[in-house]
Amino acid sequence: MPKLKTILVTGGAGYIGSHCVVDLLEAGHDVIAIDNFANAVGDEDGSPALRRAEEITGKTIVFYKADLLDKPQINDIFDKHKIDCVIHFAALKAVGESMQQPLLYYQNNLLGMLNLLEIMRAHDCYQMVFSSSCTVYGEPEFVPITENHPTGSITNVYGRTKYFIEEMLKDLSAADKKWNIIALRYFNPVGAHPSGLIGEDPTKEFTNLMPFMAQVALGKKPVLTVFGNDYNTPDGTGVRDYIHVMDLASGHVAALNLLAGNHIGLKVYNLGTGKGVSVKELVDIFESVTGTKIPLKYVDRRLGDITALWADASLAKEELGWSTRYSIEEMCTDFWRWQTMNPDGYPKKNKTTVIVNGKS
Ligand code: NAD
Ligand code: WQD
Repeated sequence: MPKLKTILVTGGAGYIGSHCVVDLLEAGHDVIAIDNFANAVGDEDGSPALRRAEEITGKTIVFYKADLLDKPQINDIFDKHKIDCVIHFAALKAVGESMQQPLLYYQNNLLGMLNLLEIMRAHDCYQMVFSSSCTVYGEPEFVPITENHPTGSITNVYGRTKYFIEEMLKDLSAADKKWNIIALRYFNPVGAHPSGLIGEDPTKEFTNLMPFMAQVALGKKPVLTVFGNDYNTPDGTGVRDYIHVMDLASGHVAALNLLAGNHIGLKVYNLGTGKGVSVKELVDIFESVTGTKIPLKYVDRRLGDITALWADASLAKEELGWSTRYSIEEMCTDFWRWQTMNPDGYPKKNKTTVIVNGKS
């Protein structure tokens, strides 16, 4: 039985959260998930993603439609359940939107985190895994990027919320030794659960490469716009470290295992494959494994885009005992399976078996 048994997953109905819940249940944890559906399908009756996570695992999830900005509501959840650790996914994450609505992003991401930390402390819960991002590194000074690469010179508001939270966590763990926190800096999450039952289905406008490419392959969008083919990379297109979402999920289970047995204060780990793949390479692989044709249109570079980045993920391997298992081909195949099985995403009105607000 895992030592940190009951895990509160914030943003559990979202893309990475719903996949992580599957791994948590399979590893024997009890899951309490919350989401306000700012960027996920669902309503008072629950979340179709989490209902499917139950279907995959044969286990049940306690779910609350709750907003981290509503402190009394979150406090009630902590009063009702003895929570051993929080995995904090809930955040707004659209880079473009964050530039237009900075206060919305600072309020949701920073205040949401502050509320959560205060409520955790009041309930004697000091264990947390936080979703950070490779975005905190800004334009890399060197690749592969190690965890001690400088952070903070970021060109967008979303990225700054992640950076500010990391700084907040440093101050907190320095001031109060009870805290035991792991911040995971994800590189570019893609793919879907191999069952095809859960995947990425944002309710807000999205601009990420893989979901956009899949929409083109489905014929829902006419062409994939490639932002720049004059970068200083082997084929001129941008290079990223794409990581399968189930590999990310297992990184969280590994992080819980480290927290359970050790007092570490605050530790930071990169979660990536350690391999850079260009836009053009990803399109070629996607076409070959799915048998589709993606019409491309090359345009100017997208403002704020970085030329090339990939992770040095050796620290996570050494200290978490974690490494990636899925290839880039599997990332494409699994994402495509999810898209073709669910061309319109999750059913918009679901009959849920998820236990909502603690009652079945
Ligand atoms: P997502 O939007 O699918 O999931 C986030 C979930 O949080 C959504 O379901 C949303 O409704 C919920 N949420 C937002 N604000 C909330 C609030 N105030 N109260 C309750 N719920 C709230 O995003 P994701 O891709 O699953 O990302 C999960 C985390 O990982 C985020 O913190 C994100 O910033 C981080 N991250 C994502 C990526 C990526 O490319 N997907 C990369 C690096 C880091
Ligand atoms: C990948 C590559 C684009 C779309 C973003 C966030 C980052 C992190 C991960 C949360 C780039 C190119 C894309 C398209 C294209 N999220 N591209 N045509 O920008 O690396 O990172 O998600 O923390 O903070 O900024 O991801 O998927 O948007 O782009 O040519 O239609 O694909 O230029 O080279 P990005 P992405």
